[in-house]
Amino acid sequence: MVKICCIGAGYVGGPTMAVIALKCPSIEVAVVDISIPRINAWNSDQLPIYEPGLEDVVKQCRGRNLFFSTDVEKHVSEADIIFVSVNTPTKTQGLGAGKAADLTYWESAARMIADVSKSNKIVVEKSTVPVRTAEAIEKILTHNSKGINFQILSNPEFLAEGTAIQDLLKPDRVLIGGRETPNGQKAIQALKDVYAHWVPEDRIIATNLWSAELSKLAANAFLAQRISSVNAMSALCEATGADVTQVSHAVGKDSRIGPKFLSASVGFGGSCFQKDILNLVYICECNGLPEVANYWKQVIKVNDYQKNRFVNRVVSSMFNTVSGKKIAILGFAFKKDTGDTRETPTIDVCKGLLGDKARLSIYDPQVNEDQIQRDLSMNKFDWDHPLHLQPLSPTAVKQVNVVWDAYEATKDAHGVCILTEWDEFKTLDYQRIYDNMRKPAFVFDGRNIINVDKLREIGFIVYSIGKPLDPWLKDMPAVA
Ligand code: UDX
Ligand code: ADP
Repeated sequence: MVKICCIGAGYVGGPTMAVIALKCPSIEVAVVDISIPRINAWNSDQLPIYEPGLEDVVKQCRGRNLFFSTDVEKHVSEADIIFVSVNTPTKTQGLGAGKAADLTYWESAARMIADVSKSNKIVVEKSTVPVRTAEAIEKILTHNSKGINFQILSNPEFLAEGTAIQDLLKPDRVLIGGRETPNGQKAIQALKDVYAHWVPEDRIIATNLWSAELSKLAANAFLAQRISSVNAMSALCEATGADVTQVSHAVGKDSRIGPKFLSASVGFGGSCFQKDILNLVYICECNGLPEVANYWKQVIKVNDYQKNRFVNRVVSSMFNTVSGKKIAILGFAFKKDTGDTRETPTIDVCKGLLGDKARLSIYDPQVNEDQIQRDLSMNKFDWDHPLHLQPLSPTAVKQVNVVWDAYEATKDAHGVCILTEWDEFKTLDYQRIYDNMRKPAFVFDGRNIINVDKLREIGFIVYSIGKPLDPWLKDMPAVA
């Protein structure tokens, strides 16, 4: 029986291994992690991540051919194929700070693999890593190998949160990069055989190692660039009276462009886009390509500009001050159908409003108070370290109140900011919300999900990203 072990039971490792176990009953899959609470949660009825369909898959396989364990060394030493999907935070200190990936966790995982292995292994990079990480890992493994053959593969993950299970069951493509040697090709074939249980062969692409690593960064950079492009347009729409939804619809109808990833928003978030682009920028700089680096840097600058612009719209509309005013924040996760808050644009918007002394009342259907307080008091990039290495008990931000109901959040508020596109925010009773708010009552829609005309009829002053401006907002500065 082929044995697979995955190091890192996170957003990538957990769902990916669960689907492999589901589709390959003849393979034994162990997911290991140093975090005891995380593994306990995987073994309980309360999985550590919220992902539609995941619970079902886990329940079908757990205890059959899917195991979650903290006995990292045992499962690594027994496995034929080892996936590594540990954290790869952005460095905050030293060489490449603010851009380069910190490979501490990766390196320690690689050294541990070398230490405990007694048979040949295929080691698969699953976490996003800088191009040529495989080479570094290969060196660590072969220099410590005691005669064991290690083959390194890069098999980047393209799943998006909220649709992870569907993305895994029906991937657009599976990418496997490996060495162009006979042993490298054999390793690629072994991993292909795993995916071939459910993925059509023409969707499994084999490349060299570097191409696979770079493709992952490139794909995320392209996707983020589309969002920054449409967000840049949204500012122009507001200035000229065009409607960004109509513009993206018209643009997306061009079959060469396509309709996806053209929704204007308060900004993109998530654990990948910013981190991967920063990584790409760093690699370009290291390779003497400052023009290319600056091109990609601009995608992040526009994203930051968009979040700033939103905060300034809120503050300038409300008589240039939100000091002491209650503002309801609807949505904290970086997108709907996930409880993940990593790099969510809401953090920056909240910090901007708190900087102007607002009082915030936050509601998100999937994010709890502890997480919100932690996010609002954490330094940039700290989120990407295992929990036990994050600052222990961050001081709670006092002007923040977290509630479990949108009506409670908006009661007596001066303004409402919609920052995640949860479906339930589309069908709220806005008349009831209006009746219970201070007047004039404002709604700032950072996701373009509400019916602007209907809300204006109720009496709200409405700002919706990239839409023709409410007369109230005309001539008010959007940029500080
Ligand atoms: C992304 C990639 O899609 C995935 O392939 C990769 O493996 C990991 O990174 P994810 O971060 O889970 O996935 O979410 P995604 O759906 O890509 O959304 C990222 C951010 O962009 C979210 O904040 C989302 O709200 C925002 N977004 C997306 C927009 O603002 N507009 C859009 O049109 C699409
Ligand atoms: P991703 O989104 O890439 O899956 P996560 O942060 O959700 O990232 O998951 C990474 C996991 O890797 C964490 O649960 C962390 O505890 C685990 N991890 C980090 N280093 C090691 C290690 N050396 N051995 C085992 N698990 C590790």
